[in-house]
Amino acid sequence: MSAFRSIEWLEEGVVRMIDQRRLPHETVYNDYTDYQSVAQAIKDMVIRGAPAIGAAAAYGLALTAHHSAAHDPSALKAELAQADAVLRQSRPTAVNLFWALDRMAGLIDQPSWQTIEDLQAATLAEAHAIAQEDVAINKAIGQHALELIPDKATIIHHCNTGSLATVDYGTALGVIRMAHESGKQVMALLDETRPRLQGGRLSAYELKEQGVPFKVIVDSASGYYLRKGVVDLCVVGADRVVANGDTANKIGTYNLAVVAHANGVPFYVAAPTTTIDMALETGDEIDIEERSAEEVTHVGTWQITPDDVDVANPAFDVTPAEYVTAIITEKGIIYPPFKENLAKLMAK
Ligand code: MRU
Repeated sequence: MSAFRSIEWLEEGVVRMIDQRRLPHETVYNDYTDYQSVAQAIKDMVIRGAPAIGAAAAYGLALTAHHSAAHDPSALKAELAQADAVLRQSRPTAVNLFWALDRMAGLIDQPSWQTIEDLQAATLAEAHAIAQEDVAINKAIGQHALELIPDKATIIHHCNTGSLATVDYGTALGVIRMAHESGKQVMALLDETRPRLQGGRLSAYELKEQGVPFKVIVDSASGYYLRKGVVDLCVVGADRVVANGDTANKIGTYNLAVVAHANGVPFYVAAPTTTIDMALETGDEIDIEERSAEEVTHVGTWQITPDDVDVANPAFDVTPAEYVTAIITEKGIIYPPFKENLAKLMAK
């Protein structure tokens, strides 16, 4: 398994994930053989990031088929439906989870499966396809983005959208990586991304290993740099982009977008079309996950608040489309008006 690949299928019917809660200090791989523990791994953020969650759910179904004791395809389909329902409950905001499960369900529901073995092979092949396509999609996003990045560029990035958040390579962090690999002089300013510090822990880990120049900044420092005029662009990922271009992403993204807008700095969203949800019209309809109080009261095992304080912990926010300069997808870059242009893109 490559240093950053988030998830892999092992021949003996095991799904292996790098435990992202323990990075960067410990590289621990966890093995899974059933969908219940895959759903728990998604909830607990062993694996996280919209595309990675989608791939994990698909492999959760492949595991279910692989280890099933069912005697006929209809019994196996019932087990897979049960697994699908549990996996759907794991995290609500990233649409890639539901996209991957819908794609798997479309395959499973085909009436043509004659044997258990056919269905086992088909679910595994589809999960592999989802994972492999994701890597190619990320590289295409990075290629398209090159025209937006000056030869010398300081770029603010939020959360972790790299290999770890996808299957491999990454979306917004992949854009920075691709720019560096293609010879541009990039300097990334990585928001540390409270409360779970995906920027300070995971994005810093990836860029350090890849030799991409960066500095970790506290989330509240981005406004300082944007106002100073030293930032060329911001690039972030997405958990869900809806029909009008409103975008849900890691909490704090909205603040960054507004300050970028106030300072005339381009704000780009890099996301695969699997993150675009044309079923929702505006960002107000997106289900925003609320996570545990402990993520706020503690940093690691260190409690930073008094005992028994009330906490609110929304994991994502919505950036209205008016603050987004362009959306970079594997099918190309789209600009406002997003309602029309997203519809055209998705029809391609
Ligand atoms: O809570 P997380 O770590 O799963 O949130 C991840 C993000 O918000 C990412 O920016 C998004 O999923 C895009 S990952 C390519």
